[in-house]
Amino acid sequence: MDHYFIIYSIYLELFIVYSVLYPAKAKSRRQRWEVKPSDMANNTLNPIRAIVDGMKLTPNPDKPMIALSIGDPTVFGNLPTDETVRQALKDAIDSEKYNGYAPSVGYLKSRQAVANFYSCPEAPLEAEDVILTSGCSQAIDLAISVLCNPGDNILVPCPGFSLYKTLAVSLGIEVKLYNLLPEKSWEADLQHMESLIDERTSCLIVTNPSNPCGSVFSKEHLQKILNVASRHCVPILADEIYTDLVRCTSPSMASLSSSVPILSCGGLAKRWLVPGWRMGWILIHDRNNIFGSEIRQGLVKLSQRILGACSVVQGALEGILNAPQSFYNNTISFLKSNSQICFNELSTVPGLTPIMPSGAMYLMVGIDMGHFPDFKNDVDFTEALVTEQSVFCLPASAFEFPNYFRIVVTVPEHLMVEACGRIREFCQRHYRPRSSDSSDSNDLDQ
Ligand SMILES: *Cc1c(COP(=O)(O)O)cnc(C)c1O
Ligand SMILES: *[C@@H]1O[C@H](CO)[C@@H](O)[C@H](O)[C@H]1NC(C)=O
Ligand SMILES: *[C@@H]1O[C@H](CO)[C@@H](O)[C@H](O)[C@H]1NC(C)=O
Repeated sequence: MDHYFIIYSIYLELFIVYSVLYPAKAKSRRQRWEVKPSDMANNTLNPIRAIVDGMKLTPNPDKPMIALSIGDPTVFGNLPTDETVRQALKDAIDSEKYNGYAPSVGYLKSRQAVANFYSCPEAPLEAEDVILTSGCSQAIDLAISVLCNPGDNILVPCPGFSLYKTLAVSLGIEVKLYNLLPEKSWEADLQHMESLIDERTSCLIVTNPSNPCGSVFSKEHLQKILNVASRHCVPILADEIYTDLVRCTSPSMASLSSSVPILSCGGLAKRWLVPGWRMGWILIHDRNNIFGSEIRQGLVKLSQRILGACSVVQGALEGILNAPQSFYNNTISFLKSNSQICFNELSTVPGLTPIMPSGAMYLMVGIDMGHFPDFKNDVDFTEALVTEQSVFCLPASAFEFPNYFRIVVTVPEHLMVEACGRIREFCQRHYRPRSSDSSDSNDLDQ
């Protein structure tokens, strides 16, 4: 062996590495300040803000405002979390045990508590299969980030929760929207879904129960979605934050398939009514060892970017998950009764087509635009509803589904009744019978 040659090669290699890391010093230093947001920041767009900020929202001064737009169950104070949930957090604080850094994926004991809570014979979970996150939002961020490279694409429901697109676009990932069918209680258009898949499709997102639709897929329909994923070898990101916030039982996707790898994202925000506590999780279901250790390690690495979930809430997690069944039942029966009131009221309003939800906290209402020539679209319609009646519903254009609006059904019952009455008055005032000679391409009947 020629030692000089080896040393020379090492030297050359170091020189090349150095030159790549530290290219020849730029000739001139910056002459003036020029601080611009990064491309990633610039490409981070919230479609709801983009639409709502462009609306002219001036309520009628004679009527107090009723916001049916905010997907936060705590805003009206009528749905407090359970006493056991509050007590668990107080105890965690008083123990002084949770003031430090937790591991980036969460304390083992807290991950175990989540695993125990969601484990079932069809889809068993261990503590190692759980990653605790700062809300379900971070769970979704980690899941998309670990599965997709820039230039890949993901399949997202339409209408759907806008965060998926916000995150994907900022990461240079293309979003392909598959249609949900209002006339089929918002089931996915499976043919459409399948037609969108190509070799760069790295993740299929399924939101069940749905925000914004409040729909819940049947076991059979979930099975069909899993079959699509299985045929094309596409992993699933199941946003299941509304699991169990349903009237009927709805199985988790993971309980229906052992072959399709699934990252199930969830959290405390909705079912435990504490979105501000920022606790979420990813449940890794990989019984066929498709994700293997690489995806798991990828998730661990990504979790180290922000060191995950609040440690005090982690300390309280076991107690929180043990809230009494009556707490969950009460929330569900409240949502059911309010949905029923809203649906019954709006079903008889000319020009509107409410779609009865089966879960979550939302109800979508179709607007037959052909009967409302005063308005161009759902944004125009909901803006005027604020101006005249001080009722704000989110136009479903914010979910890329025009000519619908979304109602949040967590408001107190008397406000729900009042708001529906005002919506009726508004529609009666603007409704026009269809003139037979004009056809409107926006018409829902067509
Ligand atoms: C509210 C919501 C989330 C976000 O949950 P956080 O825990 O508050 O981050 C995620 N997905 C859907 C479908 C939601 O409606
Ligand atoms: C931000 O992005 C838009 C296009 O989305 C572009 O027109 C604009 O120049 C960008 N701004 C910066 C500061 O990069
Ligand atoms: C909660 O609801 C379920 C399903 O309706 C019922 O079987 C159970 O008895 C209820 N439990 C309590 C404590 O209300």
